[in-house]
Amino acid sequence: GKGEFDHYMLKEIHEQPVAVANALEGRLGSDQVLIEAFGPQARQLLGKTRQIHLVACGTSYHAGMVARYWIEALAGVPCQVEIASEYRYRDVVAPPGTLLLTLSQSGETADTLAALRHARKRQGENYAGTLSICNVPGSSLVRESDLSLMTHAGPEIGVASTKAFTTQLTSLMLVALALRQLRGGDQGLTARLVHRLRYLPTLLGDTLQLDAEIAELAQRFVDYRHTLFLGRGAQMPIALEGALKLKEISYIHAEAYPAGELKHGPLALIDGNMPVVALAPMDELIDKLKSNLQEVRARGGQLVVFADPESRLEQEEGMRVVRVPGCCRFLAPIVYSLPLQLLAYHVAVARETDVDQPRNLAKSVTVE
Ligand code: F6R
Repeated sequence: GKGEFDHYMLKEIHEQPVAVANALEGRLGSDQVLIEAFGPQARQLLGKTRQIHLVACGTSYHAGMVARYWIEALAGVPCQVEIASEYRYRDVVAPPGTLLLTLSQSGETADTLAALRHARKRQGENYAGTLSICNVPGSSLVRESDLSLMTHAGPEIGVASTKAFTTQLTSLMLVALALRQLRGGDQGLTARLVHRLRYLPTLLGDTLQLDAEIAELAQRFVDYRHTLFLGRGAQMPIALEGALKLKEISYIHAEAYPAGELKHGPLALIDGNMPVVALAPMDELIDKLKSNLQEVRARGGQLVVFADPESRLEQEEGMRVVRVPGCCRFLAPIVYSLPLQLLAYHVAVARETDVDQPRNLAKSVTVE
């Protein structure tokens, strides 16, 4: 049941420290990832991987978009990400050594399964193999993939995906580090990230302390009709995910853009009735992001910025700053997912929608 929580979604948001700890359980050595724990054939499959096609739908697709940044930066493996309903009908060119990596909470999403089958049939000889990252053991996707990494999030009841997403991200970080190890990248960084992964559940627990502050902040969104989300780098897919959560449960129209795209069009939307939610972790793009935020402020946009304590963003007229616990830039996408989930949740509650069962949606999309 929901226990002390009003909705499954809120319960599942608060389960994330435990869910992520479960996704890591047994998979970390003292300073590296235990590749054998992925399965007996994992070392061989990842060893012969030359590039990756990541394929998924919805929230799982956003996890794939984050993973591309990690896999390219940490392992130097070329990576492309695609929505399954597009991949399955495209004349995909898969160079030899392509790993098809499908992501799915349910393992029963029709388009994702079809993409897997299409790839096997069409260019079977060029695929090094198929890996799925999935939350449901014994699902069709797991049965039909060469190798599966289970996310161990536990059952997710709320239609809007939360803990399934952050455990997918955690699992994808393990894959990125495994690829780095196999390709002989500098192991100092690997060791540091392994140590930070161990601490991640605690960090997520600290981040959930923002719940009350975000519940209060959410009240100001209730009467807005639109919201714009901005992020850069690996936070850009988190902005997309924040927008998806908001629209699917609160029915407020939301869009997300890479912050650098603002002046190529969406800036025209900004006025005093357009709230803009920005993600500002401490990374090499922070100064560029700050100048994007100035562009919004100069046009009267109402900014809400989720920021690292070190990003030196100060609250001022038209800009509300919410401090997110400091974290390393690689794990920041996982950490920053939580405040956006909480924001969508509290806006939806304030608008009295059916949070766990949003209109027109199904938990598992088993038809095309
Ligand atoms: C949104 C959401 C959906 C799913 C999508 C894929 O909150 O849950 O976008 O992510 O339908 O589902 P899975 O991951 O089961 O393949």
